[in-house]
Amino acid sequence: MNSVILVKHPLVSDRLRTLRDRETGTELFRRALRELGLVLAVEATRHLPTRETTVVTPLGVEARVEEVDSARCLLVPVLRAGLGFVDSFFEFLPKAGVAHVGVARDHDTLEARVYLSSVPGNAFEYDHVFILDPMLATGNTSVKVLELLREAGCSSDKVTLVCAFAVEPGIERVVRGFPGIRIVTASIDPVLNDSGYIVPGLGDAGDRLFLT
Ligand code: URA
Repeated sequence: MNSVILVKHPLVSDRLRTLRDRETGTELFRRALRELGLVLAVEATRHLPTRETTVVTPLGVEARVEEVDSARCLLVPVLRAGLGFVDSFFEFLPKAGVAHVGVARDHDTLEARVYLSSVPGNAFEYDHVFILDPMLATGNTSVKVLELLREAGCSSDKVTLVCAFAVEPGIERVVRGFPGIRIVTASIDPVLNDSGYIVPGLGDAGDRLFLT
């Protein structure tokens, strides 16, 4: 299975335009991120197992159908920006569990420090885990979150990291450290600057989502 999936779609390109534009205000930014998250959610859930069952249609005829048990999925939004994808994933996975993880970046060293985690001890019991983090930059944050999941017994082949923007060094760091992980992203941008920002990117995703 290809570990990095770059989602190409005209609507994705259009929402990336909105997100990148520094003239985009908070309301529109939130909306564009949520809409982008819907497309990414479709791609990120492509491999989920389905269970065969039957329903009776309005014609009184039994039809064989398939269902997804969304309660078997765990969403791990990385604060703050990952919150921008939660509602998108709830649209398709309404019964998914949610474990918030807060990771702060030291602005000088770019080291990541976990300040909050509600990853449950039974995370390994979920069929699939979706880490929601719109920006995959150095990979330091993702590595911390993946280490938490590993401590909870969750193997990386059960994990999909969902981002809007990624850069190669961050992708390589995550894929090398956590074989079997899938990364679904809407863009692979060229570089990181010295402050750890993706360039051209969109700036600070948390600020743009939550500070008006
Ligand atoms: N986090 C952000 O919010 N933006 C970046 O460019 C990199 C990390």
